[in-house]
Amino acid sequence: MPLTIAIDGPVGAGKSTISDVVAKRLGILHLDTGAMYRAVGLYMLDHQVDIRDEKAVSGLCEQGLVQVDARYEGDAQRTLLNGEDVTSRLRTQEVGGAASAVSRYPAVRRMLVRRQQEMARQQPMLLDGRDIGTVVLKDATVKIYLTASPEARAKRRMLQLREKGDQTPFEEILEEVNARDWQDMHRETDPLRQAEDAVLVDSSDLDFDETVNAILSLVEAKQ
Ligand code: DC
Repeated sequence: MPLTIAIDGPVGAGKSTISDVVAKRLGILHLDTGAMYRAVGLYMLDHQVDIRDEKAVSGLCEQGLVQVDARYEGDAQRTLLNGEDVTSRLRTQEVGGAASAVSRYPAVRRMLVRRQQEMARQQPMLLDGRDIGTVVLKDATVKIYLTASPEARAKRRMLQLREKGDQTPFEEILEEVNARDWQDMHRETDPLRQAEDAVLVDSSDLDFDETVNAILSLVEAKQ
């Protein structure tokens, strides 16, 4: 079994960027599983499928009409939807919302989890998401639950938005963070939760490098 690292946590905890750097430092590939849920959400938006219609969304996945995959250019993940590289279209609020909605459906999760497990069997990998330690890689070498207070996560998100010239008020961003937490933690299928054997890393008072180093130390301790 190759080395597997599972990093789960709520929205805005910095999982993707932190995971990217940790994986690079370890010389292994990083699979951002959220991007795969986003690709399913994008398909539904592009084809005007009602994301609240579980039967319609699940049917399309079960019929093989929504094929999601990931490949690598060097160590950079490219996310494919029915063979097309959609990476540049995934990071919008609209697609994030659609991803959160479709990620509640067992048929969607089954399809993506199967592919994630296949990839992790083939090479050493770091996967980040919501259910990696609890479902996808139950026997991962190292499991980390990366979180920060809602306020700290909303503040980071606000700084990112300001860089893009977006002036959304802090209160609105915080509300969005809390709403997304609630949705991810209260869905019936595979809700976000800390696996019993995961180590909690709270980055509220850590900067980026400190968080990366905390995770690298945990990995080193296990190896
Ligand atoms: O991490 P992200 O914001 O890109 O994830 C988008 C949505 O996908 C998020 O609201 C929850 C869902 N998701 C999930 O249910 N399971 C995963 N392993 C990854 C993401």
